[in-house]
Amino acid sequence: MTKNMWYAVEFSSAIVTTAKYLKILGTELVLYRTSDSQIHAMNNACIHRGAALAQGKIAQDCIVCPYHGWHYQTDGTCVKIPSQSATIAIPKAARMTTYPVQDKYGWVWLYLGAGEPGALPDIPNFPPAAGNLRAIQGEFNWNANYERVLENGLDFAHAPFVHAGAFGNPDLPEIPDLTIETYPGGASATVDLAATPPKGLWKFLVKGERAPIKTRTGFFLPNLTFLEVYLPFGQLTIWTAHVPIDLHHTVSKWINFRNFFIGKWADGDTYKRTIKIFEQDKPIVESQRPQLIPTDPSAEPSVAADTLQIQYRKLSQ
Ligand code: FES
Ligand SMILES: [Fe+2]
Repeated sequence: MTKNMWYAVEFSSAIVTTAKYLKILGTELVLYRTSDSQIHAMNNACIHRGAALAQGKIAQDCIVCPYHGWHYQTDGTCVKIPSQSATIAIPKAARMTTYPVQDKYGWVWLYLGAGEPGALPDIPNFPPAAGNLRAIQGEFNWNANYERVLENGLDFAHAPFVHAGAFGNPDLPEIPDLTIETYPGGASATVDLAATPPKGLWKFLVKGERAPIKTRTGFFLPNLTFLEVYLPFGQLTIWTAHVPIDLHHTVSKWINFRNFFIGKWADGDTYKRTIKIFEQDKPIVESQRPQLIPTDPSAEPSVAADTLQIQYRKLSQ
């Protein structure tokens, strides 16, 4: 189920000069940053007796196994075995499998596929060009496959049902024609969504009747989505990496940019709104069967409102 593509797997800021454990598509890895700021990834289970390298230390840019202290340099080669004299040759098999990593757009990108990786997608609108921005980030865990989670992020038609009272209007469930845009590595859809009465802090920013709200959502293969909401008082943009821990568990790592209420005082409100949306989606997405998107395109009937998910299915095969 691993695609020959770069997966966005972690916030860049989360990888420092100490070892960090990550499980991606069932593969247990250790990531760390060397003194030249580069990020490196290798299997977590030490080739010697399988202890977790993520519990080890970093010394002279090598990862040191916590069990018997074998030192691995960034290409996976073992360069020191403390239990033997430095004059004795290190076994050739004392080598860890490493993986290509890139550090861009605020995320760490990992390639677990076969062959040489291609280029990262070119993401022109990250961060959004929308004036003075305030960004906050967070995570959300799902007991669901990452592609079901990702498709939920591309789905307009569920808003009046799952997010009634938040941004979905249950009285106006019809989705107008989507404007689809395709670009290298993905596609997006734009639509004018029926507005709902604002709640909480946002009430102070909206006067009178609300016009439909221009909303754009899209993806970059294989696991990144974005949402742009053009509110009457500003723009909200959320980028999310839907990180596949394994086939049945996902963690969504999101960055929320706003160009209104840019003071720190409004961060708590923004955080709560974002998590509330994920929480409304969670029981529905976790209930979907089969848990994996069917590979047979005729297995699930689709309508016009599903056009963007169909684009994702086509491109990600
Ligand atoms: S298990 Fe890692 S050095 Fe022995
Ligand atoms: Fe949703």
